[in-house]
Amino acid sequence: MSSLVLGIESSCDETAAAVVRDGREVLCNVVHSQNELHKRWRGVVPEVASRSHTSRILPIVAQALEQAQVRPGQLAAVAVTHRPGLIGCLLVGMAAAKSLSWLHGLPLVAVDHIQAHVHVAFMVEPALPLPAVNLVASGGHTALYLVHEPGRAERIGTTRDDAAGEALDKAAAILGLGYPGGPAIEAAAQGGDPRAVRFPLPLRHAEHLDFSFSGVKTALLYHLRGNALERPMPALDAAQVRDLAASYQHAVVTTLVGKLARAVRAVGARAVAIGGGVARNQLLRRRIAEEPALRGVRVVFPPLDLCSDNGAMVAGLGTLLLAQGKVADLDLAAAATARRTAQEAS
Ligand code: KG4
Ligand code: ZN
Repeated sequence: MSSLVLGIESSCDETAAAVVRDGREVLCNVVHSQNELHKRWRGVVPEVASRSHTSRILPIVAQALEQAQVRPGQLAAVAVTHRPGLIGCLLVGMAAAKSLSWLHGLPLVAVDHIQAHVHVAFMVEPALPLPAVNLVASGGHTALYLVHEPGRAERIGTTRDDAAGEALDKAAAILGLGYPGGPAIEAAAQGGDPRAVRFPLPLRHAEHLDFSFSGVKTALLYHLRGNALERPMPALDAAQVRDLAASYQHAVVTTLVGKLARAVRAVGARAVAIGGGVARNQLLRRRIAEEPALRGVRVVFPPLDLCSDNGAMVAGLGTLLLAQGKVADLDLAAAATARRTAQEAS
């Protein structure tokens, strides 16, 4: 018998719901992004985000069920992101999930958002060669996971300061580009010279697998305004913006690919996968595909809509956790921080 799981996601600035059959087949994947709401602040404003989730969550869930042509009573479970994220945002999705669970007598499954990003690789390729290394890079997180088997992933490296997406968002703000910054930098970099400015590649040669992105953002600021920030922000022409965007993107991507390759070597991984909003970046995908150190390693690039925040990944991992009997109570609490392993998360 097939199992239909509803996945609900509201940990940051996407209100999302999806129905997934048998842990893999995405029947619908409804995502409402709040980019328009937050762009004047060039970052997510938590209170604004949770208020928007509150008004959107029920219509989004209804839309997902309608698109999938599924009645709540046909569901095997409701899976919901309960960590990590903005508490006020998590609580909205969790309240919706708990209500559906109680009303329709459905098991409630608690999903760790980052582990769900990692799990997408198995939705795309169930026979993923193992062990695998998964790079999750988003606006809030940048980490490497060693994946032993579905649902069992362990963090082996993380950022010590900013996330890669955050570094791109901040650079876009400095350069006066759009929000969110990742796609804005990617678009602005078209035709630019990635070697025009040499930005630092922090921790690149360090043996460990941690990242640091705050220095590259500061380097951009210093490049424009002098080391003591003594100069006003210069007016940049289109060619300068192109070159700066290309050079900055090159630095972020080179750092990510370098650590990914180091991780693969360190653990003897047979596959790599990527997830999170930054995994939408085409230069990152190209550089991973061309990386000599990854030759002979299976590379999985999930479709773009499964990289940025979505409900399908929550339903996907939720299906596995349900099969493992990991069902939550209605007093399930939200948590702001990530756990290091999937076991801890359930
Ligand atoms: O996973 P996600 O949708 O939400 C978080 O959990 O943060 O990731 C959003 C982040 C933002 O920082 C955004 O600038 C970045 O992903 N991003 C990109 C691209 N699309 C989104 N970064 C680089 N290239 C892109 N095409
Ligand atoms: Zn995410």
